[in-house]
Amino acid sequence: MNIAVLASGSGTNLQVLIEQLHEDTATDINISVVISDRKQAYALTRAKNAGIPTQIVRSKDYVSRVEFDAEITRHIENYSVELIVLAGFMKLFQLPFVRKYQNRIINIHPSLLPAFPGATAVADSLKKGVKVTGVTVHYVDEGVDTGPIIAQTSIPVYDTDDEESLHKRIQIEEHKLFPQVIRAHAQGNLKVIGQKVISVSSES
Ligand code: GRF
Repeated sequence: MNIAVLASGSGTNLQVLIEQLHEDTATDINISVVISDRKQAYALTRAKNAGIPTQIVRSKDYVSRVEFDAEITRHIENYSVELIVLAGFMKLFQLPFVRKYQNRIINIHPSLLPAFPGATAVADSLKKGVKVTGVTVHYVDEGVDTGPIIAQTSIPVYDTDDEESLHKRIQIEEHKLFPQVIRAHAQGNLKVIGQKVISVSSES
């Protein structure tokens, strides 16, 4: 299965996907392209180091977000991508893109959704004083972090936590959960029924 990974930042999740899934013969997963909206994203360097093609698509270079999405679609089609993985990609897609790739876009989010959607989830969780937070991997729908939840891991929040320490512990769990979920999708083990995702392999 050809995968595109979209990343805006450092790309630690991308790195794990490269190490655990790229060119994996058992699952037949291949990261065929890494796309970033930021020229300086370290994720691009990680991709280049692994010999994976990269593309930069910046929203400011397009007259509208629909045009931006169209350019990403062009790359998705050029690289025969079957699954789009958002690994810290900080742009939202417009409705036509999301509809076109329904149940074929997977995102990772640093909170237990539906709590704390959006770009500042870790800071928001700390501010609210929650005692438990975690990681959510979900399919992307037209809302902000509202799509069908595939898997979650919970982690405790300590009194001593600041944003950095909490995000660091969240990322340890992200790096375990993300490859597992992508593997399950690639193997055809996930089935979306409305807002619910079930594991087909465990169906009786
Ligand atoms: C992750 O914490 C992810 O949950 C969020 O963005 C961050 C990306 O981190 N969506 P990295 O670039 O993979 O290190």
